[in-house]
Amino acid sequence: MRTFEQSETLKRLPEQFFAKLVKNVQQLQSAGHDVINLGQGNPDLPTPEHIVKALQGASEDPINHKYSPFQGFLYAKQAMADFYQREYGVELDPETEVAIMFGSKEGLAEVSQCLLNPGDTALVPDPGYPDYMSGIALADAKTEMMPLLAANDFLPDYQQIPEDVLDLAKIMFLNYPNNPTSATATKEFFDETVKVAKEHQFCVLHDFAYGSIGFDGNKPQSFLQSEGAKDVGIEMYTLSKTYNMAGWRVAFAVGNKSVVKGINLLQDHLHVSLFGGIQAAAASALNGDQEVVRKLVDTYENRRNCFIENLNKIGWKVEAPKGTFFAWLPVPDGYSSEEFSELLLNKAHVATAPGNGFGSAGEGYVRVGLLADEERLAEAAERIGNLNIFDRKSEGMK
Ligand SMILES: Cc1ncc(COP(=O)(O)O)c(C=O)c1O
Repeated sequence: MRTFEQSETLKRLPEQFFAKLVKNVQQLQSAGHDVINLGQGNPDLPTPEHIVKALQGASEDPINHKYSPFQGFLYAKQAMADFYQREYGVELDPETEVAIMFGSKEGLAEVSQCLLNPGDTALVPDPGYPDYMSGIALADAKTEMMPLLAANDFLPDYQQIPEDVLDLAKIMFLNYPNNPTSATATKEFFDETVKVAKEHQFCVLHDFAYGSIGFDGNKPQSFLQSEGAKDVGIEMYTLSKTYNMAGWRVAFAVGNKSVVKGINLLQDHLHVSLFGGIQAAAASALNGDQEVVRKLVDTYENRRNCFIENLNKIGWKVEAPKGTFFAWLPVPDGYSSEEFSELLLNKAHVATAPGNGFGSAGEGYVRVGLLADEERLAEAAERIGNLNIFDRKSEGMK
């Protein structure tokens, strides 16, 4: 068989850092070990029943057996606009300010195709969701990293970015509540972001994947709640996390009309829109009973409380996350992120994601997904405690 050479575009794609972790976990599992896998970001609970029922009903409607309208059904985009009005007080025109996408992973890559030319510059958070880099690489553009540091509450410090870099930038990726650091953003920060984006004329892409998951009674801020945000950017909202619909592949972009138009144009060439049944289910999720979301957030908050309490008990002194279903934990002195993550996997059979996989500023941390029930999370903490790395009695780390 002849092996065909990959295009230069494919060769530019970054390596999937976490493939190695997945392989190591599988190896231990096939050797019969009980691995508590907290290394990934795949929601563990099922989609609420009324949403599944909406899909079942819609699958019987012949209108959904045909091609969907290229840019999605208007009723679905209306539901997305109504959701933003209800949740954030943000008004959107469903025809020009909403684009439906096959999940935000795909949407994020598409926006880079829409806005970036070869050699252009994108500002990217470090640490950050690795897939921002994929779209930028496909567009053959360059990245400038914005370090997210604990000292700055894991928000980028715009004063530290040189003016010429800000001038060169065509797009800035942001994500709060943040994967992997679990930090949340303030309205002041988004207001400042609008100001900086206006001044330097770049587009802001705010990835709001964990928009519904804020703890201690704090509802995460939408970027579009800041005045002028629509002039300078868009926000992406996925149903994957809010409604446990990761497998359904449905998300949407809202905000700046020119960017929404670009996404729709690209999609006209790449796809016919989502299966109508998924669009109907998405509309039912967004505007149906939101008690399911409140319950889900409570579940994550209880898991967070349980896990952090148990870590503190074993002597691993860490702060409680403010949002998302991740905990971003500093590794003890003497270990790199990868060394510590490997130790936890091989000796405690607890899988975590090493922080450096999210960018060099992630070195010194591991990310834990709160994606197992409280009993398993407590057991994970206990197994880590049994390694005797931390001193149960002392206040700090060894
Ligand atoms: C920060 C962030 N953005 C986007 C996504 C992609 O979500 P989806 O493609 O399911 O909409 C994820 C998924 O884990 C994520 O963590």
